[in-house]
Amino acid sequence: MKNDLKQILLTEEQISLRISELGLEIDRHYEGKEILLVTLLDGAIVFTADLIRNLSIPLRLDCIRVSSYGDSTDPETAPRILSSLKSEVGGRHVLLVDDILDTGNTMKRVHDEVLARDPASVQSCVFLDKPERRQNDFKADWSGFSIPDEFVVGYGLDYAGQYRQLPFVGTLKPSVYE
Ligand code: PRP
Repeated sequence: MKNDLKQILLTEEQISLRISELGLEIDRHYEGKEILLVTLLDGAIVFTADLIRNLSIPLRLDCIRVSSYGDSTDPETAPRILSSLKSEVGGRHVLLVDDILDTGNTMKRVHDEVLARDPASVQSCVFLDKPERRQNDFKADWSGFSIPDEFVVGYGLDYAGQYRQLPFVGTLKPSVYE
């Protein structure tokens, strides 16, 4: 699998250090409150697993699954909620967690869905942010790393379902996807 990689963009050490910083910031922000941490399946599971172990605030965990939609912006194929939350959202502090903020359409869709259920607050934390690709005005409240518009894999991110288990983030050799 490592032979498929062109370059390592973020090492395990860089990721671990940044997540401990994010943990401190999020702990400070929510001091004295309990949160409902909502992870967007599947890509965010690795980041979520590490992030929650860097949080001291009380939290409950829930998951949401959103359809993949490629690059289309057609409302017919816009992200759809495939399986929704088990938890009661009303009056709770919700933190949405995803692996990557790309066009922003997935996060915007989930944010709107949660907001419609009358939470006390909704914030978002993404592991990676590709600001150049944004198609709306969505901004994450916390972001691990801002990266250029390159196709990346590892640490939860896949190409054709593969590479999610790599403990770092890397770019693929063009020969892998051409
Ligand atoms: C990826 C990623 C984000 C979304 C970001 O999910 O995990 O949820 O795309 O893209 P956007 O900002 O352009 O909406 P994907 O649909 O590939 O599913 P996965 O989480 O199972 O990898």
